Amino acid sequence: MTRRTFIPALSAAFLAKSATQPTINAARLREHIEKLSECGRLPGGTFADGVSRVAYSDADVAGRTYVMSLMVAAGIMPKIDSAGNISAVRSGSGNLPAVLIGSHIDTVPEGGILDGALGVLAGLECLHAIGEANATPRRPLVMVAWSDEEGRYGSLFGSRAFCGRLDVAALSTMAATDGERLVDAMARAGFDASRAPEARAPDGAVHAYVELHIEQGPRLDEAGVPIAVVDSIVGVRRTRLIFTGQADHAGTTPMERRRDAFLAAAEYSLKARELIVERGGGRSVTNIGVVQVHPGVSNIVPGRAELVHEMRSPDAETLDRLAEACDTLAREIGLRRTIGVEVRRMSTTTPVTCSPKVQGAVETACTQLGLGWKTLYSAAGHDAQNLALLTDSGMLFIPSRGGKSHRVDETSDPAAIERGANVLLHTLLTLAR
Ligand code: GLV
Ligand code: MN
Ligand code: MN
Repeated sequence: MTRRTFIPALSAAFLAKSATQPTINAARLREHIEKLSECGRLPGGTFADGVSRVAYSDADVAGRTYVMSLMVAAGIMPKIDSAGNISAVRSGSGNLPAVLIGSHIDTVPEGGILDGALGVLAGLECLHAIGEANATPRRPLVMVAWSDEEGRYGSLFGSRAFCGRLDVAALSTMAATDGERLVDAMARAGFDASRAPEARAPDGAVHAYVELHIEQGPRLDEAGVPIAVVDSIVGVRRTRLIFTGQADHAGTTPMERRRDAFLAAAEYSLKARELIVERGGGRSVTNIGVVQVHPGVSNIVPGRAELVHEMRSPDAETLDRLAEACDTLAREIGLRRTIGVEVRRMSTTTPVTCSPKVQGAVETACTQLGLGWKTLYSAAGHDAQNLALLTDSGMLFIPSRGGKSHRVDETSDPAAIERGANVLLHTLLTLAR
């Protein structure tokens, strides 16, 4: 992977031409971001205080309704597919495969207002601006808001369905970590989960995919560079580990006789982290964000403990190697502590390389707009990695202020948002030629 930084000179020729080109209405985009942030806004919050808009919740449904109203206002008709993805098309002058732009509006619990929402609303703004300028590109432009990107029920669900990569046999058992099943959540929002595979794109329908996102980490902000051209996206593995010991009286059972499932889970948590830091080649990360102890009361020795262990790496072989080493570690701990261990793979995404064609279009857009850019890999997962298995797919990032994301104070500067949306617009126009 090459790392490049490029600061172009402002192109006078481009500026002369740009008066007739479509351009982003930054005030309108800002207003749409603020309005969408009202769907699921956390209590007591002002505009920047975060949202909980998890997939298929009432807040998500309200957000989806709002996005569809914006599509109508932009003169493009919303459609919803059987996986819950919302899309709208601005027709091209030719009958050609489409350029897709997309992201998601679902959020993590207690998340920020830009993760996903930026890409959806900026994409919509591009299609709105292109319509207002009467600039008909050759290729159709399709704006998509993918469902359940954050993986409440399954990782990158809507784009996985679109790309024909759903595990159909697993649909009926897919569930959130709080136990809610996908089928029930989708039914509540008016969908039949068993029909999600029908959302698969027809062969040859897509020419390219591009997604604008906040970086969600500190690299761009700290480098003082306005745009990242994404060259690859990490793979993410989620594994559930179930440690089974023996529930016992927490006062009367002698310490040496206890088979405490939580202690095995705790030892695994610390050692797996060490293992991944030591053997992960510098770019692998790990997190245990779900811990469930059963029966979960203070006067019973935990008889069962469950963890969801997530690991990420931009390198597929490293990810395989680390996953195997962690399975071995869990088994060793179980044997030594006389604790049963079950390892269940929950979801896997493979690391992907972004399309040189899309990277080149983003770089061209930066050059046209006189903006510096830097090549980065994405340390977060994105729908663009499913699309990369179907078509030329790529991403661009704008800086996250302070590198903060998946937290309520996630934000980016208004000028950065406007720059990112204009680069997206120019990238689209290049890809749609
Ligand atoms: C998506 O937000 C991720 O978890 O990387
Ligand atoms: Mn996210
Ligand atoms: Mn996201």
